[in-house]
Amino acid sequence: MKLTPEEKRILDGKEGEVKAKILRTLVEFGDVFGAEKLVKITHEGHLVTSFGIGLIKPLFRIMDEIIDAGIKSSVPFTVDPRPIDYENVKCNLLNKLVFSKIMYSQQKRYEEQLSKIGLKDSNSFTCTCYQDEVGNQPKYKDILSWAESSAVVYANSVIGARCNRNSGMLDLFGCIIGKVPYFGLLTDEGRKATWVIEIKTTKKPLPQILGSAIGLKVMEDVPYIIGLDKFIGDKLDDETKSYLKDFGAAAASNGAIGLYHIDNLTPEAKKLGKKLIKEGAKKYVIDDKELEKVYNSYPILWKNKDAKPELCFIGCPHLSYNQLLTWSKNIVNGLKDNNRKKVALRTILTTSPQVKNKFIQTQEYKDLIKTGAKVSSICPLMYTNNPIAGKKPIVTCSNKLRTYSSSRYYKDDDLLKIICKKEVK
Ligand code: F3S
Repeated sequence: MKLTPEEKRILDGKEGEVKAKILRTLVEFGDVFGAEKLVKITHEGHLVTSFGIGLIKPLFRIMDEIIDAGIKSSVPFTVDPRPIDYENVKCNLLNKLVFSKIMYSQQKRYEEQLSKIGLKDSNSFTCTCYQDEVGNQPKYKDILSWAESSAVVYANSVIGARCNRNSGMLDLFGCIIGKVPYFGLLTDEGRKATWVIEIKTTKKPLPQILGSAIGLKVMEDVPYIIGLDKFIGDKLDDETKSYLKDFGAAAASNGAIGLYHIDNLTPEAKKLGKKLIKEGAKKYVIDDKELEKVYNSYPILWKNKDAKPELCFIGCPHLSYNQLLTWSKNIVNGLKDNNRKKVALRTILTTSPQVKNKFIQTQEYKDLIKTGAKVSSICPLMYTNNPIAGKKPIVTCSNKLRTYSSSRYYKDDDLLKIICKKEVK
C-alpha cells in the first residue's frame, strides 16, 4: 500500500507505539484486500462492539492501552445496543447472576473505556444510528469506518455512503486514525452489481424473507434488484426506509451483503440505473413460490419443537418510530379483537433510546404498556445468546435474530396472533 509521509511517520512510531500498532493493523488489513491507499473518513463512527463480555479480555486490554497512550477517536462514535436492561427485560435470579457475573461482567468498565475514547454520549447505544432521531446520519458518498452489518448495508445502499464490512476493533481503529483502506465497497468498481434480481411476486414481499432469499443466493456480492419499486414505490419515505432497514439486515445476516441497489429507488440506482450492472451478471428470479420455499427452509432450533413460546422480541434491528407506532396499534387492536387485555406472552419491542424517548410521549405508548408489553433498547441477540436465556422458546419476526440464535421466526401477522392469543401454527 502506498503511504503518505504523514502515515509513514506514524508507522515509524513518531506518535507513539500504540498509534503505530493501530495504523499497522489497518495497513495489513488493507493489504489483504489489495487496497492501494488509505482514505480519509468523512463522517462519525459507529462501533459494533457494545458489550462487556468478560471472556474477551484482549478487548479491554487494548482499550486500556489506547487510553493510557492518551489517544482519542478523530470523530465521535455511536455503538451497538447494550446487552442488558433489567428494568424492561426482567431476568430471574440465575439469569441475572449469569449476566452480571459471567457474561457481561465488564459492561461498566467497557462503557467507561468507550466514553474516554470518543463515545458521543451515554444514549448512543443502538444499531440504527442512522435514524433521524439518533442523528449519526452520513450523507451520500461519505466514507465511513463502521462494522455493524445492518448499519453498513443501510448506509451503503439507502444513503449511498461508502463503507466496507469491517470487523469489530477495525471500526474503532479507522475512527482513531481517521482513515480506512481503499478497496471493495469504497470504490466505484466494487459497487457494481454482479447479480440481477428480478422480483416477480404477486404481492409486496415481506422484507425479512426477501432479504433472506437474496442474501442466501448472492452471499457477499452486490445485487441490483428490479421490480421491487412496483411494490414499495420510488421514494425513500419513512415506511420505505423501515422496509429497507429490515430487508438489508436480513440480506446481511442470511448472506453477507454489504450493498444492494434497487432499480428506480436507491440513490445510486436512481443516478446510474442499469449502468451499475456488470457485464455477465448472474440472474435470480424471485416469485411467490421461491419466497415460500426459503421460508419453509428455516430450521426450528427449539429443544422441544412443540413448546409454547415464552418470550417474543420485535425489533432487530431496532424499530423505527413509525414501526413502533404500527406494532403498538396492531397489538392493542389485536388484543381487543380477542377480548384480551394483556399480551399472551412476554413481549419486548426494541428501539433506540432516542426513539423510545419520543415514543414515551405518545398515547400509543400508554396503551401499549397497559397490555404488559415492554419497550427496551437492548440487543435481543445479546440477551438470548447465552445457555440459559437461549433455552427458552423465543419467537421473533427478525430474520437476523433467527439466524444468530435459536429464536423461531414468524411472519409479522402470525407473530401478532401469538402475542394476542398465543395461537401457534
Ligand atoms: Fe441490532 Fe442486535 Fe439485531 S445489534 S441488528 S438488535 S442483533
